[in-house]
Amino acid sequence: MPASVSRQVISNQTQPYEKLTEVLQRHQTVPFQKPIADFNRQAFEEAQVLLANHGGPLILDSCCGVGQSTRLLAKRYPKHFVLGVDRSADRLERKLGKLPENAALIRADLVDFWRLAAAAAWRPEYHFLLYPNPSPKKKDFKLRWHGHPVFKDMLALGGRLECRTNWQLYVVEMQQALKFMGVVADLQPLHLVDEPLTPFERKYANSGHDLWQLTAQIN
Ligand SMILES: C[S@@+](CC[C@H](N)C(=O)[O-])C[C@H]1O[C@@H](n2cnc3c(N)ncnc32)[C@H](O)[C@@H]1O
Repeated sequence: MPASVSRQVISNQTQPYEKLTEVLQRHQTVPFQKPIADFNRQAFEEAQVLLANHGGPLILDSCCGVGQSTRLLAKRYPKHFVLGVDRSADRLERKLGKLPENAALIRADLVDFWRLAAAAAWRPEYHFLLYPNPSPKKKDFKLRWHGHPVFKDMLALGGRLECRTNWQLYVVEMQQALKFMGVVADLQPLHLVDEPLTPFERKYANSGHDLWQLTAQIN
């Protein structure tokens, strides 16, 4: 296989995780008590200042990787403040050129960052979650965002959620998880008309993968 061709997701799951509802129920009732790391608190404070200084409506680009989507979204929505968040310093530090004035990139772990943002009553107008790590092994369900205890905090932020993936089961499960939480989500194949929003989107599209797009208005 040439280096530029990306493999399809391989999973030992063919159906949504059978204990999905049980896990979500547990996350609703058992408090998630993992302490918030200092570096995430500092990153969040930095982000608060940037957001306040801009003063416009917020677009959150969670798991932004190298921040290509953050840049493109900032151009597409010039009146918004677009904040890309990723935990990988290596990805964030890749130089893709100057950031637009209405964009910023922050290094933080979203497990903490989303909880801080929800507690501070952040309300992004749009929330992008583009090609999150699929964690396709069944035993890793808890690593998928909808299988993680922080999912409810992510939803507390509200806004128009958009999740894209090349693994259909990921968004089928997310749609079920959202339904459990009382949110109706639309799930469609994604046919790219514009340039890819992210490097992973480009890689998967060039490799002939089917792409999927889940959208939900969360209030
Ligand atoms: C498959 S990459 C996709 C990156 C980008 N959205 C794209 O499509 O090119 C997934 C990204 O999620 C980030 N990520 C995974 N777990 C995270 C977490 N807990 N907090 C912040 N970022 C996380 C990784 O560092 C990685 O950059």
